[in-house]
Amino acid sequence: MLVWEEDRGRAAAAPSVKATPSVVADYRRAPAETKSVTDVAAAASARRVNVADKRIINGQTDVNQLVPFKYKWAWEKYLATCANHWMPQEVNMSRDIALWKDPNGLSDDERRIIKRNLGFFVTADSLAANNITLGTYRHITAPECRQFLLRQAFEEAIHTHAYQYIVESLGLDESEIFNAYHEVSSIRDKDEFLIPFIDAIMDPHFRTGTMEADQTLLKSLIVFACLMEGLFFYVGFTQILALGRQNKMTGAAEQYQYILRDESMHCNFGIDLINAIKLENPHLWTPAFRDEITQLFMKAVDLEYRYAEDTMPRGVLGLNASMFKGYLRYIANRRATQIGLEALFPNEENPFPWMSEMIDLKKERNFFETRVIDYQTGGALTWD
Ligand SMILES: [Fe+2]
Ligand SMILES: [Fe+2]
Repeated sequence: MLVWEEDRGRAAAAPSVKATPSVVADYRRAPAETKSVTDVAAAASARRVNVADKRIINGQTDVNQLVPFKYKWAWEKYLATCANHWMPQEVNMSRDIALWKDPNGLSDDERRIIKRNLGFFVTADSLAANNITLGTYRHITAPECRQFLLRQAFEEAIHTHAYQYIVESLGLDESEIFNAYHEVSSIRDKDEFLIPFIDAIMDPHFRTGTMEADQTLLKSLIVFACLMEGLFFYVGFTQILALGRQNKMTGAAEQYQYILRDESMHCNFGIDLINAIKLENPHLWTPAFRDEITQLFMKAVDLEYRYAEDTMPRGVLGLNASMFKGYLRYIANRRATQIGLEALFPNEENPFPWMSEMIDLKKERNFFETRVIDYQTGGALTWD
């Protein structure tokens, strides 16, 4: 008999039922209060997975069976992220180290940007990884989407590794950088905005299946994909990539470029996931819910703008905080329309069109030329 650790007590109470893996999987998906010996017996007659029965949330099909595919977009994005695999320690940091150690290498404002940046990101991606593995993952019942989430969680680990690698390479004060999310208010405010939405779905008692719970999950997915990965990362990415464009901190900039490529894929997957849930559950998208989401977008734009002001008290690298006001509004419009909301700030234009080129890294070699190969692996599956 195959019994998972936490099901042992219950299975022992139902000795007449043979628990095959799919029976156990069905049994585990049911809310605890509704599980009974009868449920286990009913699950024993489980049939083969029918594509039409698969659902992104509240599905009743066996989550251990990846195929037959229903959500091919999720599988294709999983393959695309695997093709983009990279590791931080493969990026040469020697020029960055020399520049950082040279007393005249960087201005105080440039150093402030780098430290604030790492201060936000060294913990942000751990927050993201925990949100995926301890929150989102167990509420998603489409195995194709779970497969992407597993890859995404590993990429968040690579990102945390990359930021730690930069901190270590430059010999920064680890305690100062890793505690910035407690100690620097512009960083803490962003995290405090996010944490309630992460906590809600990480609560071990939280279960989907009611209107209120399903809206809580959908809201959490929107905050995470559109506002965390899709907005809160963009002041930081733009600043470090602007340094790289001026031939400064090119190793760090290269790492950020790969991270930006990964994050843009995470954001796009999240938006597809949100839209698929909306399509399967249109009753969740009420006017009151849309209003609430719109207010969250406004708040997030404000918080990210305050972060821009804190990191750039003066103009630096040809950038200044007020340019980011337009950029953040432009991005917020894009995220809002991608999930079916009205643009929040009509007619905003992108003040940094070069950022779009940075996201599309598939073309030739990396922008900063710290390496001479196109960093993509396993993209082609031709065998002849
Ligand atoms: Fe990340
Ligand atoms: Fe991410």
